[in-house]
Amino acid sequence: MKKNINDLTVFTAGEQSKKTIVFVHGFPFDHLMWKNQIDELSKNYFCVTFDIRGLGESPVGDGQVTIESFVDDVENIIDELKLNKPVLCGLSMGGYISLRAIERMENKFSAAILCDTKSSADDNEGKLKRAAAIKQINSGNLESFIETFVTNCFGTEFIQTNKKYFDEVVNRSKKHNPVGVKGCLLAMAGRTDTTNYSSKISIPTLIICGEEDKITPPGIMKFMAEQIKSSDFVIVEKAGHLSPVEQPMNVNNAIKKFLLNNKL
Ligand code: MLT
Repeated sequence: MKKNINDLTVFTAGEQSKKTIVFVHGFPFDHLMWKNQIDELSKNYFCVTFDIRGLGESPVGDGQVTIESFVDDVENIIDELKLNKPVLCGLSMGGYISLRAIERMENKFSAAILCDTKSSADDNEGKLKRAAAIKQINSGNLESFIETFVTNCFGTEFIQTNKKYFDEVVNRSKKHNPVGVKGCLLAMAGRTDTTNYSSKISIPTLIICGEEDKITPPGIMKFMAEQIKSSDFVIVEKAGHLSPVEQPMNVNNAIKKFLLNNKL
């Protein structure tokens, strides 16, 4: 079902009486990134996802967004849908949003699933890369930025064997409003570092990383898993930065096992 919550396009699947999982997608994608998880998990969970403001079907507004305002959006969805302590599941930028949401209001969640993400903020090199991307988009080159960025997200084998799907993802991302894409880049460049809070997280946390992830590689995610005492760490073979998309069965099984072990 599709709803509008505070000018945000929100999608729900499954029965609302069941335990909820809120899925937050990565950059520069949209809610469809979670399709394989929602198709499977909505059999037993109420699954909520949305398009981050400025991407996909969510309007861009004035384009002035921050990770903090994205967390406000998550909080609004929880309040509007009256969700009782959902599980929060985020990938990459969705993970940055999830980690800050947990730091700000951990008591609103029963568990977290952090895929291909990290707690550290952008260093100077990272900020300059965001600036270069914005310059590229301002020069009218959104399409080439998207093509290069999305290619880097996938493992090489996935692109070779799933060319049609890969082209679809690239073409969908190319349709994002450039203001929305730049808004996300600025939001990520300006995000806070949530590493200090990692050792204080007490909700059960599943950490999932594609073994070929070039953006948030296994070493970085292992470090995060070591900080979060209540965490399980899973490496997904033959996957890059988009492990839930590239290896949906393995990721779904890891999520189901984690939820079952934690009686969720
Ligand atoms: C993402 O997948 O959300 C991005 O790769 C995150 C980033 O660029 O830091």
